[in-house]
Amino acid sequence: MQRIDSIDRLLNYREGCSGSVGLVPTMGALHAGHLSLVDAAKDVNDNVVVSIFVNPTQFDKDSDLAHYPNTLAADLEQLASVGVDAVFLPDFAMMYPDNFQYQVTETSLSQLYCGAHRPGHFDGVLSVVMKLFNLVKPDQAYFGEKDYQQLNLIKGMVEAFFLDIQIVSCPIIRETDGLAMSSRNLRLTAIERKIAPQLYAILMSDSSLSDKKQQLISIGFDVDYLEVMDGRLLAAASLGDIRLIDNVPYPSVGVN
Ligand code: PAF
Repeated sequence: MQRIDSIDRLLNYREGCSGSVGLVPTMGALHAGHLSLVDAAKDVNDNVVVSIFVNPTQFDKDSDLAHYPNTLAADLEQLASVGVDAVFLPDFAMMYPDNFQYQVTETSLSQLYCGAHRPGHFDGVLSVVMKLFNLVKPDQAYFGEKDYQQLNLIKGMVEAFFLDIQIVSCPIIRETDGLAMSSRNLRLTAIERKIAPQLYAILMSDSSLSDKKQQLISIGFDVDYLEVMDGRLLAAASLGDIRLIDNVPYPSVGVN
């Protein structure tokens, strides 16, 4: 696996690729969810590139950025062991030579749900993803359905800017107790970790949206939103400092 830490080396690597290129953008602290994206990319591409970059412009809270888990050594080992061809490890100066003066902004969906609670979040996400697309020039790029709003905004950006990239969405990977895998789960305390799977259980339960909200609050969640989008129930709720998001088919009764 090539470890690429400059834009020049990335462009060189890309020029030398023959056949198709699949890109899996990540912020590191990799888990089985990320590896499922890598697997999907490897299934159909001749070359698979994973980027690891904790993108500061998408964090609305400095403390969230400061505490974002960093497991780089383990991440690199995992990626090498599953046969990733190249890992791109940029830093802020490389990705933002303009210091974020230029931004990709979506003005409608990005203002709802997570966007309403995390001002500027999706400007940061869309801007960095556009930069990664322009640098890696992938044929396909892989994103998890856990970040359902993000996934839809990226699909919309690709259409709006006529990018010749296929966005492949991959299903949510869950722990055995139902908790959607997320790098932030590493930061839950032991007590919070026991409560966390209830988010999924309550979303899937046969109850009204207001009952679900009350149930979540009663067990200690601070609920940002529960909203239905395109036949899915989207939720964001925090336990202490840790904000969890999840989504399930809606109505979910009768669906596993
Ligand atoms: O989903 C993520 O991990 C990030 O939002 C992404 C797509 C890698 C952009 O920084």
